[in-house]
Amino acid sequence: MRNVDILNNAGVLCENGKITWVGVMEDWKRTLPDGFTEIDASGKVVLPGFVDSHTHMMFAGNRAHEFALRSQGATYQQIAEAGGGILNTITHVRAASKKELKKQTLRFLNAMMKHGTTTVEIKSGYGLDFDCEVKMLEAINELKDEEMMTVVPTFIGAHAYPPEYKQKKQAYVELIVEKMIPYVGKKKLAVFCDVFCEKGYFEIEDSEKILNEGKKWGMAPKVHAEELNPLGGAELAARIGAASADHLEHVTEQGITALREAGVVATLLPGVSFFLNHGYAPARKLIDSGVAVAIASDFNPGSCMSYSMPMMMTIACTQMRMTPEEALVASTLNAAAALNMASTIGSIEVGKNADLIIADVPDWKYLAYHFGTNHIVATIKNGTILEL
Ligand code: NIG
Ligand code: FE
Repeated sequence: MRNVDILNNAGVLCENGKITWVGVMEDWKRTLPDGFTEIDASGKVVLPGFVDSHTHMMFAGNRAHEFALRSQGATYQQIAEAGGGILNTITHVRAASKKELKKQTLRFLNAMMKHGTTTVEIKSGYGLDFDCEVKMLEAINELKDEEMMTVVPTFIGAHAYPPEYKQKKQAYVELIVEKMIPYVGKKKLAVFCDVFCEKGYFEIEDSEKILNEGKKWGMAPKVHAEELNPLGGAELAARIGAASADHLEHVTEQGITALREAGVVATLLPGVSFFLNHGYAPARKLIDSGVAVAIASDFNPGSCMSYSMPMMMTIACTQMRMTPEEALVASTLNAAAALNMASTIGSIEVGKNADLIIADVPDWKYLAYHFGTNHIVATIKNGTILEL
Protein backbone atom coordinates (compact mmCIF):
# COMPACT_ATOMS: atom_id res chain seq x y z
CA MET A 1 0.00 0.00 0.00
CA ARG A 2 3.00 2.32 0.20
CA ASN A 3 4.06 1.47 -3.30
CA VAL A 4 2.50 4.22 -5.40
CA ASP A 5 3.85 4.99 -8.87
CA ILE A 6 4.04 8.73 -9.40
CA LEU A 7 4.95 9.81 -12.93
CA ASN A 8 6.15 13.33 -13.64
CA ASN A 9 5.43 15.07 -16.92
CA ALA A 10 3.12 12.24 -17.86
CA GLY A 11 0.04 11.72 -19.98
CA VAL A 12 -2.96 9.44 -20.25
CA LEU A 13 -4.78 8.49 -23.44
CA CYS A 14 -8.44 7.52 -23.19
CA GLU A 15 -10.34 5.87 -26.03
CA ASN A 16 -13.91 4.59 -25.95
CA GLY A 17 -14.07 5.09 -22.20
CA LYS A 18 -10.93 3.08 -21.48
CA ILE A 19 -7.35 3.98 -20.69
CA THR A 20 -5.25 2.92 -23.68
CA TRP A 21 -1.93 4.55 -22.88
CA VAL A 22 -0.21 5.95 -19.82
CA GLY A 23 3.37 7.05 -19.48
CA VAL A 24 5.87 9.87 -19.42
CA MET A 25 5.58 12.30 -22.33
CA GLU A 26 9.08 11.60 -23.66
CA ASP A 27 7.83 8.09 -24.51
CA TRP A 28 4.78 9.48 -26.38
CA LYS A 29 5.62 9.00 -30.05
CA ARG A 30 2.21 9.34 -31.70
CA THR A 31 0.16 12.34 -32.80
CA LEU A 32 -3.26 12.66 -31.32
CA PRO A 33 -5.85 11.48 -33.89
CA ASP A 34 -8.56 13.91 -35.07
CA GLY A 35 -11.52 14.29 -32.81
CA PHE A 36 -9.62 13.80 -29.57
CA THR A 37 -9.86 16.37 -26.80
CA GLU A 38 -6.60 17.32 -25.20
CA ILE A 39 -6.64 18.43 -21.58
CA ASP A 40 -3.65 20.39 -20.38
CA ALA A 41 -3.04 19.36 -16.79
CA SER A 42 0.40 20.88 -16.48
CA GLY A 43 1.16 21.95 -12.93
CA LYS A 44 -1.65 19.75 -11.71
CA VAL A 45 -2.10 16.17 -10.56
CA VAL A 46 -4.07 13.39 -12.28
CA LEU A 47 -5.35 10.58 -10.08
CA PRO A 48 -7.77 7.68 -10.37
CA GLY A 49 -11.32 8.69 -9.35
CA PHE A 50 -12.18 7.88 -5.75
CA VAL A 51 -14.17 4.74 -5.01
CA ASP A 52 -16.53 5.26 -2.06
CA SER A 53 -17.27 1.64 -1.22
CA HIS A 54 -19.57 2.11 1.79
CA THR A 55 -22.41 4.65 1.97
CA HIS A 56 -25.97 4.97 3.23
CA MET A 57 -26.41 8.08 1.12
CA MET A 58 -30.05 7.48 0.16
CA PHE A 59 -32.09 8.89 3.01
CA ALA A 60 -34.73 11.45 3.87
CA GLY A 61 -34.94 13.93 6.71
CA ASN A 62 -31.87 14.80 8.72
CA ARG A 63 -30.37 14.21 12.14
CA ALA A 64 -29.00 17.69 12.90
CA HIS A 65 -30.81 17.59 16.23
CA GLU A 66 -28.96 14.40 17.21
CA PHE A 67 -25.70 16.03 16.18
CA ALA A 68 -26.49 18.88 18.57
CA LEU A 69 -27.34 16.43 21.36
CA ARG A 70 -24.02 14.64 20.83
CA SER A 71 -22.20 17.94 21.04
CA GLN A 72 -23.52 18.10 24.59
CA GLY A 73 -22.40 14.60 25.49
CA ALA A 74 -25.20 12.24 24.39
CA THR A 75 -23.83 9.12 22.72
CA TYR A 76 -24.87 7.49 19.44
CA GLN A 77 -26.15 4.46 21.37
CA GLN A 78 -28.15 6.55 23.87
CA ILE A 79 -29.83 8.40 21.02
CA ALA A 80 -30.60 5.12 19.23
CA GLU A 81 -32.05 3.57 22.39
CA ALA A 82 -34.32 6.58 22.81
CA GLY A 83 -35.83 5.89 19.39
CA GLY A 84 -33.57 8.19 17.37
CA GLY A 85 -30.71 7.05 15.18
CA ILE A 86 -31.48 4.69 12.31
CA LEU A 87 -35.15 4.54 13.36
CA ASN A 88 -35.44 8.32 13.06
CA THR A 89 -34.33 8.12 9.42
CA ILE A 90 -36.62 5.15 8.74
CA THR A 91 -39.70 7.22 9.57
CA HIS A 92 -38.71 9.77 6.93
CA VAL A 93 -37.68 7.24 4.28
CA ARG A 94 -40.92 5.30 4.67
CA ALA A 95 -42.86 8.52 4.12
CA ALA A 96 -40.79 9.58 1.10
CA SER A 97 -41.67 8.69 -2.47
CA LYS A 98 -39.18 6.95 -4.74
CA LYS A 99 -38.99 10.16 -6.74
CA GLU A 100 -38.06 12.21 -3.68
CA LEU A 101 -35.39 9.71 -2.64
CA LYS A 102 -33.89 9.76 -6.11
CA LYS A 103 -33.93 13.53 -6.30
CA GLN A 104 -31.94 14.11 -3.12
CA THR A 105 -29.54 11.25 -3.86
CA LEU A 106 -28.90 12.59 -7.33
CA ARG A 107 -28.01 15.98 -5.86
CA PHE A 108 -25.53 14.28 -3.55
CA LEU A 109 -24.08 12.20 -6.41
CA ASN A 110 -23.48 15.34 -8.38
CA ALA A 111 -21.67 16.95 -5.44
CA MET A 112 -19.61 13.82 -4.83
CA MET A 113 -18.53 13.74 -8.46
CA LYS A 114 -17.26 17.31 -7.97
CA HIS A 115 -15.23 16.09 -4.99
CA GLY A 116 -13.62 13.37 -7.09
CA THR A 117 -15.74 10.28 -6.47
CA THR A 118 -16.45 8.26 -9.61
CA THR A 119 -17.83 5.01 -8.12
CA VAL A 120 -20.13 4.71 -5.14
CA GLU A 121 -21.80 1.90 -3.26
CA ILE A 122 -25.25 2.74 -1.88
CA LYS A 123 -27.05 0.65 0.74
CA SER A 124 -30.75 0.23 1.39
CA GLY A 125 -31.58 -0.27 5.06
CA TYR A 126 -33.71 2.75 5.91
CA GLY A 127 -36.95 1.11 4.80
CA LEU A 128 -36.93 -2.07 6.88
CA ASP A 129 -40.15 -3.42 5.49
CA PHE A 130 -40.60 -5.26 2.22
CA ASP A 131 -42.09 -2.38 0.23
CA CYS A 132 -39.71 0.31 1.47
CA GLU A 133 -36.56 -1.78 1.07
CA VAL A 134 -37.66 -2.54 -2.49
CA LYS A 135 -38.50 1.14 -3.03
CA MET A 136 -34.98 2.11 -1.97
CA LEU A 137 -33.28 -0.56 -4.08
CA GLU A 138 -35.33 0.32 -7.15
CA ALA A 139 -34.45 3.98 -6.66
CA ILE A 140 -30.74 3.13 -6.27
CA ASN A 141 -30.85 0.97 -9.40
CA GLU A 142 -32.54 3.72 -11.38
CA LEU A 143 -29.66 6.02 -10.48
CA LYS A 144 -27.27 3.57 -12.16
CA ASP A 145 -28.12 5.20 -15.47
CA GLU A 146 -26.66 8.54 -14.40
CA GLU A 147 -23.52 8.71 -16.45
CA MET A 148 -21.42 10.65 -13.95
CA MET A 149 -21.15 7.80 -11.46
CA THR A 150 -20.98 4.04 -11.22
CA VAL A 151 -23.57 3.10 -8.58
CA VAL A 152 -23.31 -0.26 -6.80
CA PRO A 153 -26.45 -1.29 -4.87
CA THR A 154 -26.30 -3.20 -1.57
CA PHE A 155 -29.22 -4.75 0.30
CA ILE A 156 -29.08 -4.26 4.06
CA GLY A 157 -32.54 -5.13 5.33
CA ALA A 158 -30.65 -6.24 8.45
CA HIS A 159 -29.68 -2.69 9.43
CA ALA A 160 -31.91 -2.49 12.52
CA TYR A 161 -35.12 -4.07 13.80
CA PRO A 162 -38.08 -1.97 12.68
CA PRO A 163 -40.33 -0.72 15.51
CA GLU A 164 -43.18 -3.09 14.59
CA TYR A 165 -40.84 -6.09 15.12
CA LYS A 166 -39.28 -4.87 18.35
CA GLN A 167 -40.92 -7.65 20.35
CA LYS A 168 -40.49 -10.34 17.67
CA LYS A 169 -37.00 -10.04 16.31
CA GLN A 170 -36.83 -13.58 14.93
CA ALA A 171 -39.88 -12.88 12.80
CA TYR A 172 -38.01 -9.98 11.19
CA VAL A 173 -35.02 -12.23 10.42
CA GLU A 174 -37.48 -14.69 8.79
CA LEU A 175 -39.00 -11.87 6.75
CA ILE A 176 -35.55 -10.93 5.45
CA VAL A 177 -34.58 -14.51 4.66
CA GLU A 178 -37.86 -15.79 3.28
CA LYS A 179 -39.28 -12.79 1.51
CA MET A 180 -36.90 -9.88 1.02
CA ILE A 181 -33.75 -11.70 -0.14
CA PRO A 182 -35.48 -14.01 -2.64
CA TYR A 183 -37.26 -11.01 -4.21
CA VAL A 184 -34.15 -8.82 -4.30
CA GLY A 185 -32.20 -11.77 -5.70
CA LYS A 186 -34.75 -12.67 -8.35
CA LYS A 187 -35.07 -9.05 -9.52
CA LYS A 188 -31.28 -8.57 -9.35
CA LEU A 189 -31.69 -5.40 -7.30
CA ALA A 190 -28.44 -5.72 -5.33
CA VAL A 191 -24.85 -6.78 -5.93
CA PHE A 192 -24.07 -7.16 -2.22
CA CYS A 193 -25.90 -8.24 0.91
CA ASP A 194 -24.81 -6.56 4.14
CA VAL A 195 -25.75 -6.87 7.83
CA PHE A 196 -25.24 -4.64 10.86
CA CYS A 197 -23.60 -7.38 12.95
CA GLU A 198 -23.70 -5.86 16.41
CA LYS A 199 -24.88 -6.50 19.95
CA GLY A 200 -28.56 -5.60 20.11
CA TYR A 201 -28.77 -5.56 16.31
CA PHE A 202 -28.03 -8.72 14.31
CA GLU A 203 -25.81 -11.07 16.25
CA ILE A 204 -23.52 -13.65 14.68
CA GLU A 205 -25.98 -16.48 14.12
CA ASP A 206 -28.66 -14.36 12.44
CA SER A 207 -26.08 -12.40 10.45
CA GLU A 208 -24.63 -15.64 9.10
CA LYS A 209 -28.04 -16.96 8.17
CA ILE A 210 -28.92 -13.76 6.32
CA LEU A 211 -25.59 -13.54 4.48
CA ASN A 212 -25.77 -17.21 3.47
CA GLU A 213 -29.23 -16.69 2.02
CA GLY A 214 -27.95 -13.63 0.15
CA LYS A 215 -25.11 -15.71 -1.27
CA LYS A 216 -27.59 -18.30 -2.53
CA TRP A 217 -29.26 -15.53 -4.51
CA GLY A 218 -26.02 -14.23 -5.99
CA MET A 219 -25.32 -11.39 -3.58
CA ALA A 220 -21.76 -11.24 -2.28
CA PRO A 221 -21.56 -10.73 1.50
CA LYS A 222 -20.38 -7.60 3.31
CA VAL A 223 -20.41 -7.15 7.07
CA HIS A 224 -20.68 -4.12 9.39
CA ALA A 225 -18.31 -5.68 11.89
CA GLU A 226 -17.00 -4.80 15.36
CA GLU A 227 -18.20 -1.19 15.23
CA LEU A 228 -19.39 -0.79 18.81
CA ASN A 229 -18.34 -4.12 20.39
CA PRO A 230 -16.02 -7.00 19.48
CA LEU A 231 -18.53 -9.66 18.49
CA GLY A 232 -16.72 -11.83 15.94
CA GLY A 233 -18.04 -10.11 12.82
CA ALA A 234 -14.54 -10.13 11.30
CA GLU A 235 -14.28 -13.90 11.74
CA LEU A 236 -17.76 -14.25 10.27
CA ALA A 237 -16.70 -12.15 7.25
CA ALA A 238 -13.68 -14.43 6.79
CA ARG A 239 -15.66 -17.65 7.22
CA ILE A 240 -18.33 -16.63 4.76
CA GLY A 241 -15.93 -15.20 2.15
CA ALA A 242 -17.12 -11.60 2.38
CA ALA A 243 -15.86 -9.01 -0.08
CA SER A 244 -15.19 -6.72 2.87
CA ALA A 245 -15.56 -6.34 6.60
CA ASP A 246 -16.37 -2.74 7.42
CA HIS A 247 -15.85 -0.49 10.47
CA LEU A 248 -13.63 -2.79 12.65
CA GLU A 249 -13.08 -0.19 15.38
CA HIS A 250 -13.05 -3.06 17.91
CA VAL A 251 -11.49 -5.82 15.82
CA THR A 252 -9.46 -8.38 17.80
CA GLU A 253 -6.12 -10.04 16.99
CA GLN A 254 -7.97 -13.21 15.93
CA GLY A 255 -10.23 -11.11 13.74
CA ILE A 256 -7.24 -9.52 12.01
CA THR A 257 -5.65 -12.93 11.40
CA ALA A 258 -8.91 -14.28 10.00
CA LEU A 259 -9.29 -11.33 7.60
CA ARG A 260 -5.72 -11.72 6.36
CA GLU A 261 -5.99 -15.46 5.84
CA ALA A 262 -9.29 -15.17 3.98
CA GLY A 263 -8.19 -12.17 1.89
CA VAL A 264 -11.11 -10.03 3.04
CA VAL A 265 -10.72 -6.27 2.49
CA ALA A 266 -10.93 -4.28 5.74
CA THR A 267 -12.94 -1.15 4.98
CA LEU A 268 -12.29 1.52 7.58
CA LEU A 269 -14.55 4.52 8.04
CA PRO A 270 -12.47 7.36 9.52
CA GLY A 271 -15.34 9.85 9.25
CA VAL A 272 -17.52 7.82 11.63
CA SER A 273 -15.00 7.80 14.48
CA PHE A 274 -14.38 11.49 13.86
CA PHE A 275 -18.05 12.44 13.74
CA LEU A 276 -19.18 10.30 16.69
CA ASN A 277 -16.01 10.95 18.68
CA HIS A 278 -15.38 7.21 18.95
CA GLY A 279 -12.04 5.41 18.91
CA TYR A 280 -10.45 4.68 15.55
CA ALA A 281 -9.99 1.29 13.91
CA PRO A 282 -6.43 -0.07 14.26
CA ALA A 283 -5.36 0.79 10.73
CA ARG A 284 -1.66 0.35 11.43
CA LYS A 285 -2.10 -3.07 12.94
CA LEU A 286 -4.29 -4.19 10.05
CA ILE A 287 -1.93 -2.92 7.36
CA ASP A 288 1.20 -4.14 9.13
CA SER A 289 -0.43 -7.58 9.46
CA GLY A 290 -0.89 -7.74 5.72
CA VAL A 291 -4.62 -7.01 5.47
CA ALA A 292 -5.75 -4.97 2.46
CA VAL A 293 -7.27 -1.81 3.92
CA ALA A 294 -9.80 0.41 2.15
CA ILE A 295 -11.33 3.63 3.41
CA ALA A 296 -14.84 4.89 2.68
CA SER A 297 -17.04 7.77 3.81
CA ASP A 298 -20.02 5.80 5.18
CA PHE A 299 -21.93 8.95 4.19
CA ASN A 300 -25.22 8.87 6.14
CA PRO A 301 -27.24 11.36 8.21
CA GLY A 302 -26.36 9.80 11.58
CA SER A 303 -22.78 8.66 11.88
CA CYS A 304 -20.99 10.58 9.10
CA MET A 305 -22.62 13.49 7.30
CA SER A 306 -19.80 13.85 4.77
CA TYR A 307 -19.03 12.40 1.36
CA SER A 308 -15.60 13.94 0.97
CA MET A 309 -13.07 11.22 0.25
CA PRO A 310 -10.13 13.65 0.61
CA MET A 311 -11.44 14.50 4.10
CA MET A 312 -11.45 10.75 4.91
CA MET A 313 -7.84 10.59 3.71
CA THR A 314 -6.91 13.47 6.02
CA ILE A 315 -8.49 11.77 9.04
CA ALA A 316 -6.85 8.46 8.09
CA CYS A 317 -3.43 10.15 8.03
CA THR A 318 -3.77 12.33 11.13
CA GLN A 319 -5.79 10.05 13.41
CA MET A 320 -5.05 6.54 12.18
CA ARG A 321 -1.41 6.98 11.24
CA MET A 322 -1.85 5.86 7.68
CA THR A 323 0.66 7.36 5.25
CA PRO A 324 -0.69 9.50 2.39
CA GLU A 325 0.28 6.67 0.02
CA GLU A 326 -1.72 4.15 2.06
CA ALA A 327 -4.68 6.54 2.26
CA LEU A 328 -4.61 7.00 -1.52
CA VAL A 329 -4.48 3.26 -2.26
CA ALA A 330 -7.19 2.71 0.37
CA SER A 331 -9.58 5.15 -1.30
CA THR A 332 -8.98 3.96 -4.86
CA LEU A 333 -7.62 0.48 -5.69
CA ASN A 334 -8.36 -1.24 -2.38
CA ALA A 335 -11.82 0.32 -2.30
CA ALA A 336 -12.37 -1.09 -5.79
CA ALA A 337 -11.34 -4.50 -4.42
CA ALA A 338 -13.93 -4.09 -1.65
CA LEU A 339 -16.50 -3.90 -4.47
CA ASN A 340 -14.94 -6.79 -6.44
CA MET A 341 -14.07 -4.24 -9.15
CA ALA A 342 -10.29 -3.98 -8.86
CA SER A 343 -9.76 -5.32 -12.37
CA THR A 344 -11.68 -2.45 -14.01
CA ILE A 345 -11.32 0.64 -11.78
CA GLY A 346 -9.20 2.09 -8.97
CA SER A 347 -5.93 2.85 -10.76
CA ILE A 348 -4.60 4.47 -13.91
CA GLU A 349 -3.71 1.39 -15.93
CA VAL A 350 -4.12 0.42 -19.55
CA GLY A 351 -7.38 -1.47 -20.03
CA LYS A 352 -9.13 0.05 -17.03
CA ASN A 353 -12.07 2.44 -17.21
CA ALA A 354 -11.03 6.04 -17.79
CA ASP A 355 -12.22 7.34 -14.40
CA LEU A 356 -9.80 10.16 -13.64
CA ILE A 357 -9.69 13.31 -11.58
CA ILE A 358 -7.51 16.37 -11.89
CA ALA A 359 -6.50 18.29 -8.77
CA ASP A 360 -5.01 21.77 -8.83
CA VAL A 361 -2.29 21.07 -6.28
CA PRO A 362 1.51 21.18 -6.39
CA ASP A 363 1.86 17.70 -4.89
CA TRP A 364 -0.70 14.87 -4.78
CA LYS A 365 -0.31 14.70 -0.99
CA TYR A 366 -2.17 18.02 -0.81
CA LEU A 367 -5.39 16.03 -1.24
CA ALA A 368 -4.98 14.89 2.36
CA TYR A 369 -2.63 17.62 3.59
CA HIS A 370 -4.59 20.74 2.62
CA PHE A 371 -7.93 19.71 4.09
CA GLY A 372 -11.36 21.26 4.26
CA THR A 373 -11.34 22.57 0.71
CA ASN A 374 -11.97 21.03 -2.69
CA HIS A 375 -8.97 20.76 -5.00
CA ILE A 376 -10.67 18.85 -7.82
CA VAL A 377 -10.89 20.88 -11.02
CA ALA A 378 -11.98 18.15 -13.43
CA THR A 379 -13.67 14.77 -13.17
CA ILE A 380 -13.49 12.38 -16.11
CA LYS A 381 -15.93 9.47 -16.08
CA ASN A 382 -15.49 6.67 -18.59
CA GLY A 383 -13.50 9.08 -20.74
CA THR A 384 -16.13 11.84 -20.64
CA ILE A 385 -15.21 15.19 -19.11
CA LEU A 386 -17.93 16.18 -16.66
CA GLU A 387 -19.07 19.71 -15.88
CA LEU A 388 -17.97 20.74 -12.42
O1 NIG B 1 -22.39 2.48 9.13
N1 NIG B 1 -23.63 1.06 11.72
C1 NIG B 1 -24.68 1.05 11.11
N2 NIG B 1 -25.01 1.86 10.11
C2 NIG B 1 -24.49 3.12 9.84
C3 NIG B 1 -25.15 4.17 10.62
C4 NIG B 1 -26.40 4.55 9.99
C5 NIG B 1 -27.16 5.58 10.75
O2 NIG B 1 -26.83 5.95 11.89
O3 NIG B 1 -28.14 6.05 10.15
C6 NIG B 1 -22.99 3.14 9.96
O4 NIG B 1 -22.41 3.81 10.81
FE1 FE C 1 -22.48 1.73 7.40
